[in-house]
Amino acid sequence: MREIKTVGEMYSFSRRAKIHSKKIGLVPTMGALHEGHLSLVAEAKKRSDIVVVSIFVNPIQFGENEDFSRYPRDLKRDKKLLQSMGVDALFLPQSREMYPEGFETLVEVKGLSEKLCGRSRPGHFSGVTTVVIKLFNILSPDCAFFGEKDYQQQAVIKQMVKDLNLPVEIAALPTVREYDGLALSSRNSYLTPEERKKAAMLYQTLTLAQDEIKKGERDARKIVSRAQSLLFSEPSIRLDYLQLVDPQSLEEVKKVKGRVVIALAASIGKTRLIDNLTINAD
Ligand code: PAJ
Repeated sequence: MREIKTVGEMYSFSRRAKIHSKKIGLVPTMGALHEGHLSLVAEAKKRSDIVVVSIFVNPIQFGENEDFSRYPRDLKRDKKLLQSMGVDALFLPQSREMYPEGFETLVEVKGLSEKLCGRSRPGHFSGVTTVVIKLFNILSPDCAFFGEKDYQQQAVIKQMVKDLNLPVEIAALPTVREYDGLALSSRNSYLTPEERKKAAMLYQTLTLAQDEIKKGERDARKIVSRAQSLLFSEPSIRLDYLQLVDPQSLEEVKKVKGRVVIALAASIGKTRLIDNLTINAD
């Protein structure tokens, strides 16, 4: 596995691959890799000639009071995992090269970025879209792989690609979960054993909402109110939102019909977690 730390070197690596008509697959990550990330790498391997994984804890997508400085970092372990999967190149850009003094440009997808997580994390998605378009420009991937776990993120990125005519295909892959349904996340490592047990309630809340829809309930308010009562029974969990939204526009739906995304964000102690399920009500 090639380890690449500068933009210039990454740029020439991908130019060379392009000259040889190789299909480049990119998996952007912030490291502290888990099976969710690795499922993206496995799919990228299937669909590309050359797989590049980037690890960059992107400072501009974290709010002032968020967890940038304590975000889990374990590069040694990450490298071993990626090597064992046969990744071709690991891109480890430096913050000072990605955002040198005088950096002034942000790419922002309006609308979609303002909903759901955008309300409590203003500026977060423009941080994501800015770093992702930079990675696209440095690497020119044919395909980039994202997880549905961050449903809003992949929707925002697809919109950016469409609006800006970026020549890259976006693949969104299903959420990998723990035995009790908790979606894998690098942030799960913040949870105390006690909190970790309670965290399973997030997935239970989503499945409760899903069951309501399966039983025939179509009134979003009733579905949400029944499902969220589970979380209200647990004082250490603070719900940020539980919403039924349209899969494309992320607009809140009042009556469920066709495909709908049940999206949730909640804090357990100091840890903010998100999850979602897509269901077809027809
Ligand atoms: P990170 O949280 O490291 O996630 C990297 C990719 O892994 C994202 O596409 C995310 O949706 C996916 N992922 C995370 N948990 C998953 C799970 N349980 N199952 C399947 N996929 C999962 O998301 C980011 O980093 C950053 O915002 C980034 C896109 C790299 C931009 O900085």
